[in-house]
Amino acid sequence: MNQILKKDKIIIIDFGSQLTKLIARRIREYSVFSEILTPKDLKKDNVLQNVKGIILSGGPSTVTKNVFPKIPNKIFNAHIPILGICYGLQLIVKQFKGKVKTNIKKREFGRVILHKKRNSLLTKNFFKKNKTNVWMSHQDSVHKLPVGFSTIASTSESKITIVENRKKKIYGIQFHPEVTHTQNGNIIFKNFIFDICNAKKNWKLDSEKIRIIKEIKEKVKKGKVICALSGGVDSSVVALLINKAIGKNLKCIMVDTGMMRKDEFKSTYKIFKNKYKLNVKIIDASKLYFQKLKNIDDPEKKRKIIGNLFIKIFEKEAKIFKNVKFLAQGTLYPDIIESRSATGSKTSKIKSHHNVGGLPKKMNLKLIEPLKEFFKDEVRELGSAVGLVKDISQKHPFPGPGLAIRILGCVTPKKVQILQQADYIFIQQLIKNNLYDKIWQAYAALLPVKTVGVMGDSRTYEYICLIRAVISEDGMTADYFNFPKFFLDEISNKIINGVKGINRVVYDITSKPPSTIELE
Ligand code: XMP
Repeated sequence: MNQILKKDKIIIIDFGSQLTKLIARRIREYSVFSEILTPKDLKKDNVLQNVKGIILSGGPSTVTKNVFPKIPNKIFNAHIPILGICYGLQLIVKQFKGKVKTNIKKREFGRVILHKKRNSLLTKNFFKKNKTNVWMSHQDSVHKLPVGFSTIASTSESKITIVENRKKKIYGIQFHPEVTHTQNGNIIFKNFIFDICNAKKNWKLDSEKIRIIKEIKEKVKKGKVICALSGGVDSSVVALLINKAIGKNLKCIMVDTGMMRKDEFKSTYKIFKNKYKLNVKIIDASKLYFQKLKNIDDPEKKRKIIGNLFIKIFEKEAKIFKNVKFLAQGTLYPDIIESRSATGSKTSKIKSHHNVGGLPKKMNLKLIEPLKEFFKDEVRELGSAVGLVKDISQKHPFPGPGLAIRILGCVTPKKVQILQQADYIFIQQLIKNNLYDKIWQAYAALLPVKTVGVMGDSRTYEYICLIRAVISEDGMTADYFNFPKFFLDEISNKIINGVKGINRVVYDITSKPPSTIELE
């Protein structure tokens, strides 16, 4: 039985807010296990087992319409503390027969000053001199409190911004404590989970490591496991965890697509082979990849070709390894949350992502996904707990299709070689200037246009190199990194002097949205 079920936990009911994942992270930052459920999940038996507190998230719905997502009354009667955030607050008020109205004139977006009206366990140490700054995003607000509730704080536009029913331990707030723009927002979570819910700190990655290894041993027994190892953080952590559990019965396959960063694939292979003594095989498929990608310039076609070829090669290799019963994948918690929708709507496809998540279903293998309860930063920590070298555990994310989607237009071995050199210089300079760890993801790309330049009195006509560096919490949104001018000067000089084939360097200053992190 999954040990997690036996743990104290806080559940978050997702009503569709973009910020729900952040709530889960904030709770886990206090070493308490948190899980995101949909309103439908609440109908399942035993859903409240070991639940110490319930958080109702924000969302795009409105309780002022005839139909809106609700939670079953049994949840309110379960004597488990509840905290509603934004839509969650409005839902509590509505279900307890208070009044919520849409008021476009009084909507609040962005930073707002919140004034304290009354003491509450929820807001202990939250206010400074009876006020604080909070971040709002709403146009519905509470107009009449239900019986048994009182107001804890107000803003000038919404008189009822924090509410509580002390007896029932039900709380609601209109602002978003999960975003960093809310001053001391984390204190709200701390008060809720410890003072109100009495939850225990039980989410320690070191003990999670021991649990995962034990569970893999129990599941796999004497069976064999196959794993596609890319050398990125997720697949590396998966491989080390499974290796600790079953040793040589794990076989890792590294497919070299030729679209990797300079020298990186071979050095990663050596680390896994020599340092960790993994049963790992490298397949050099670069020639095949260049052949299949010849004259293909459409980004989606490139992605599909690369993904399909990967699957073919992987399948062929898997067959050589006899008696394989399991396929290991580096699925993360955000992948699971994103693949289901709180409201039932399907988000439109922006890009076909090819990672191990898309590996062969028809192989009839059972899945092992040891990271499916973890966020990326937790996986990095788990990596350290399992002895993964910092160079890999702290590595920036790298897309499955690799440099092929960073070379705009057709891919050739020559272009890959030019880009590898420029990218190498950029990344080395980031490391040298202690900037690498401050950035979520950075890379160089090659634009498919040539421009005129002059070097040593001669005319040049060469490619443009674009550099991108973003800060982000999970890759869903991102902002460009603000480099000091000297660093940009240095990068431009080093790339142009060091890489034949590039005579101009540009820095991408767009955030996501409207751009995406990768160019294709
Ligand atoms: P975008 O470009 O969609 O990227 O803003 C968000 C994050 O996803 C990574 N990415 C991929 N990762 N396979 C992957 O494993 C893919 O096909 C892929 N495409 C984009 C991207 O590098 C960024 O971290």
